[in-house]
Amino acid sequence: MPIKSSKTRLDKLLSSLGYCSRSEIKTLLREKRILINDIVATKNDTKVFHEEVKFDNEPLDPPLGMVIVMNKPLGLVCSHDDSEGQLVYSLLPSRWQRRDPKLSTIGRLDKETSGLLLLTDDGQLLHRLTSPRHHVAKIYEATLERPLNANVGEIFASGTLMLNGEKTPCLPAKLTIIDDTHVTLEITEGRYHQVRRMFAAVGNHVVSLHRCTFGELTLRGLEVGAYRLLLAEEIFS
Ligand code: URA
Repeated sequence: MPIKSSKTRLDKLLSSLGYCSRSEIKTLLREKRILINDIVATKNDTKVFHEEVKFDNEPLDPPLGMVIVMNKPLGLVCSHDDSEGQLVYSLLPSRWQRRDPKLSTIGRLDKETSGLLLLTDDGQLLHRLTSPRHHVAKIYEATLERPLNANVGEIFASGTLMLNGEKTPCLPAKLTIIDDTHVTLEITEGRYHQVRRMFAAVGNHVVSLHRCTFGELTLRGLEVGAYRLLLAEEIFS
């Protein structure tokens, strides 16, 4: 949700949105590419509201408080460290990749997990949605290496399943069987590699994993690799 707008120095605003560095703004002012209330801007330190400014005659990108839903392809990494492989951020416009505060993923999907991924530059929202106390439901589709044992649904629903190295059991999770080796699993936590570890704990192995929902959000209308900005009313209160 856009965070309430207040007046900011023009150079600070444009550099925080990734348009230029604070030193590059002088060139942009000389080139008359920045308008304030439709009048050519001349000074880098003018205090402005976000909505008063245009760049190349276009309104600015959304202010701080952006939330993005992406259909993450397999093979991309939820990290800011590109030594780990191609980053999910590389799918976004380059200007968005230069924003400060940075866009970060809300939780992570493994490199080999596809599906619904949220990103934001709103630190408070990020903190709230990744806190262990926040129990939003997420549904995953999994393909398993072996047919499931009959009692796995009960074990997952019981709230007693312990994962290796953890001190508390997983909260109850809802398993839906599609066929012998295809299931959906609804969980309300976000422990490290949780879905893969839950199936490992019952002697199976996840061959492919895709997140199809996060709360009420789905991937409807989003091709693999595509993303869209969330509307204020779609963001979790
Ligand atoms: N659980 C996993 O094991 N991996 C993910 O990427 C998400 C949930």
